[in-house]
Amino acid sequence: MDSGDFSLVPVGPDGAEELSEIAYPLYREVYAHVPSDILEDFLRMEQTPEAIRDQMGRGLNYWYIYSGGERAGYLCCGKDDAGMYLSKLYFFKNFRGRGLGDKALRFVESEARRLGCGKIHLDVNIDNHPAIRFYERNGFSMTVPLTHVRMGMEKNLDNRSVIPVYSSVSGDYLIFSGLLYEVIQTLPELLRSASGAVDI
Ligand SMILES: CC(C)(COP(=O)(O)OP(=O)(O)OC[C@H]1O[C@@H](n2cnc3c(N)ncnc32)[C@H](O)[C@@H]1OP(=O)(O)O)[C@@H](O)C(=O)NCCC(=O)NCCS
Repeated sequence: MDSGDFSLVPVGPDGAEELSEIAYPLYREVYAHVPSDILEDFLRMEQTPEAIRDQMGRGLNYWYIYSGGERAGYLCCGKDDAGMYLSKLYFFKNFRGRGLGDKALRFVESEARRLGCGKIHLDVNIDNHPAIRFYERNGFSMTVPLTHVRMGMEKNLDNRSVIPVYSSVSGDYLIFSGLLYEVIQTLPELLRSASGAVDI
């Protein structure tokens, strides 16, 4: 994927060592306030080369994110039973606050739709306030606490495009979705402009 100053390059199992070397200092910077034994345990579970390869084997995909020809960060996501799981989204400090996160989420959303996922879900540290605000701005809401420090967040992708409508003809509910729903949404506007056009 390449759009202007934002592009993604997939990372394969051969790239797990390099990715791990990048992840360790990045996590230590972002989670500087977390007790180091907890953070190091987490890194051992999640971001060693072996852990990364194991995740890849279980259907999680990693990409480096580039901006202006420079590596800006990385993301990891994959389909699971609940939908699209956004496992990691990390930018280096000087690439934050530039709108790259929005673009990354648009990519994750398009992947989710392509794979038929009805929602994107993720977990976030409860004290990672900038990230929580970022996800909320992008349509995510809090779900349930996962541990005493981790919170679930999710965004439904299909609730805006599916609408049940009662039919007095068949006595049944019809489900309108996708394009048809968009047309129904614009009908009042169309009727308003049509009535204006005939000047009644
Ligand atoms: C969370 C993140 C992915 C959002 O992407 P982004 O492109 O920076 O998104 P935004 O531009 O909307 O900025 C998000 C927040 O980061 C803040 N931010 C901007 N530049 C920053 C910087 N250099 N360092 C730290 N935070 C910064 C923004 O002010 C914003 O917070 P606000 O809501 O208080 O304004 C990105 O900031 C990031 O990589 N953060 C560190 C890693 C992280 O926490 N990942 C999420 C784990 S679940």
